[in-house]
Amino acid sequence: MADAKKLYIKTYGCQMNVYDSERMAEALATSGYEQTQTAEDADMILLNTCHIREKAAEKIYSELGRFKPLKAAKPDLRIGVAGCVAQAEGAEITARQPMVDLVVGPQAYHRLPEMLAKAETGKRVIDTDFPEEDKFARLKGRPAKRGAPAAFLTVQEGCDKFCAFCVVPYTRGAEVSRPVAQIFDEARALIERGVCEITLLGQNVNAYHGAAQGGAWGLAQLIRELAALDGLERLRYTTSHPNDMQDDLIAAHGDCPELMPYLHLPVQSGSDRILKAMNRKHTAAEYVALIERIRAARPDILLSGDFIVGFPGETEADFEDTLALVETIGYGQAYSFKYSARPGTPAAEKPEIDPALADERLQKLQALLNAQQTAAQEAMVGRETTVLFEKKGREPGQLIGKSEHLQAVFAEAPEQLLGQIAKVRVLAAAPNSLRAELLPA
Ligand code: 5AD
Ligand code: SF4
Repeated sequence: MADAKKLYIKTYGCQMNVYDSERMAEALATSGYEQTQTAEDADMILLNTCHIREKAAEKIYSELGRFKPLKAAKPDLRIGVAGCVAQAEGAEITARQPMVDLVVGPQAYHRLPEMLAKAETGKRVIDTDFPEEDKFARLKGRPAKRGAPAAFLTVQEGCDKFCAFCVVPYTRGAEVSRPVAQIFDEARALIERGVCEITLLGQNVNAYHGAAQGGAWGLAQLIRELAALDGLERLRYTTSHPNDMQDDLIAAHGDCPELMPYLHLPVQSGSDRILKAMNRKHTAAEYVALIERIRAARPDILLSGDFIVGFPGETEADFEDTLALVETIGYGQAYSFKYSARPGTPAAEKPEIDPALADERLQKLQALLNAQQTAAQEAMVGRETTVLFEKKGREPGQLIGKSEHLQAVFAEAPEQLLGQIAKVRVLAAAPNSLRAELLPA
């Protein structure tokens, strides 16, 4: 269509935002918008934002500043802020950046077409409701066009855990699970368009308890039943809380071959004192015991985690406990952050520790985690595994994909293997990628 309007979406933050951005693009396609990769071409710019740390939120305002000349040159350009900054700051955004036409929270984006129609008449629209109607039911199904072979599927949203540092329970709201039938419809639509790997998403995905005929299903049952779908070969889920790792989910790691040997299970700290102050509701020893049970079910599982250093009141001894826990577990991958006080959270009321000390601790922790990641990468050399090839590599004749353990793998492989799972042997390891050779099917 020559006269299609152009939509530019920029996504920040977690995988759920990636998923949400795709759904927003689909919703706006019904209003005649097609996506562009350049802001300069756009008739509508949408920033899908993250509020988890201060830096992430502040980035949005500098990005909006960058669009000022575009709006000056094209007064009809509409600018929208979506996601968690929109939810947390609402009308404050338009006070700080009056050129913003539209603010939409993560629970209201199915209303985007109506909101945009209003914005196009020159009105400013702000919607940060948690509406009664089911957002997912209101969204159009996924298009049948073939795309990437790996996809995200949100099955649960929100969080009731209220960790003392975290904005998620406020920005995403209370924990809600999508009904099983809706998830199956979406999974089937994905498979139809060539997807063979699905990552089930939720802020607290292992607390999933979706309505099904005959009662609610937990995550383990959902995984097992999805695994039985023809064409679905790999399943993953993220992200989880240790206290929701039920026995049946641990068992699935041992006996459901479609469930990939990778688990992101944040612990945040190795100090019982800090875990208590964070309201995590478990001890370091309980986490270690849980990991032992998971490893007993699936010995080669690759573990990933999240860590916060410099939480209010963290002493050197607390930090040493975190290093000791990391030594005990041995992570194959991890994310670590300096504590960032978030307005409205209980921890934000407490005095912060010296930021230079927190920086120093973060560097120490990251050095240890990086060394563990490198060791996990090197342990793959010589091993046979499978790779789902997702795109062409930098060198001609090369394809890039993901291993079962979610490591990036590149290999010389024919293009017809794009979108396929192939057997490989790992030849060499770098900190963030593996080089492999194709094995006969
Ligand atoms: N400061 C620093 N890191 C945070 N995270 C969540 N809130 C904060 C905060 N206020 C981290 C946690 C969480 C991950 C998604 O982000 O480690 O698991
Ligand atoms: Fe935030 Fe995760 Fe804690 Fe929920 S469980 S409050 S999302 S850190």
